[in-house]
Amino acid sequence: MKFFIDTAHLDEIKEAAALGILDGVTTNPSLMAKLGIKGKDAVINHYRAICNIVNGAISAEVISTNYEGIIKEGEELAKIHPNIVVKVPMIKEGIKAIKYFTERGIKTNCTLVFSTGQALLAAKAGATYVSPFLGRLDDVSSDGLQLIGDMVQIYNNYLFETQILAASIRHPMHIIECAKMGADVITAPLSAIIALFNHPLTDKGLEAFLKDAEKWK
Ligand code: G3P
Repeated sequence: MKFFIDTAHLDEIKEAAALGILDGVTTNPSLMAKLGIKGKDAVINHYRAICNIVNGAISAEVISTNYEGIIKEGEELAKIHPNIVVKVPMIKEGIKAIKYFTERGIKTNCTLVFSTGQALLAAKAGATYVSPFLGRLDDVSSDGLQLIGDMVQIYNNYLFETQILAASIRHPMHIIECAKMGADVITAPLSAIIALFNHPLTDKGLEAFLKDAEKWK
């Protein structure tokens, strides 16, 4: 199972990378905007900075919604670094563009996926990754984890190579449940990854061991 961090924040990316368990980074226009990054050059430089921190898949999202625009933008993004994965929205023009990128060896991440039908289309187009948004489904009283389970079943039925990249993760149990279901990748905020470390018995046990170790001195 691969761990990606879902942020554009360089310090958070560095902190997660330093743990030695980070396989990639996902960003989106909202995460970039949150940091106040403005203008095409600044965006491209920011992606380059991320690629210099993490040697793994780095998703960079297009903002065009027409086929020609997605292709142009995606090809520009792919030129930034060999690890760039072009993130494309789940729309008709996006699926057509994913097919184009797949045929040319450009890696893609089909984003904003909320149903099994959409997941099937992304796999048919040859997307490298498909991003179902768990938390946002939960937010509207749908079962985000159920979608992951259904996608695993469908992809296994046909041996699709598209990797399920569970996104919109809100807490550590989302990560655990995705692992149980067999999602290939999770992308989570740093807080959810760090929360996996926590257990009161670990803290209590360590405290006791260190106290006993004092007796050796
Ligand atoms: O990057 C896509 C996804 O992870 C967004 O998550 O928390 O905005 O629903 P969220």
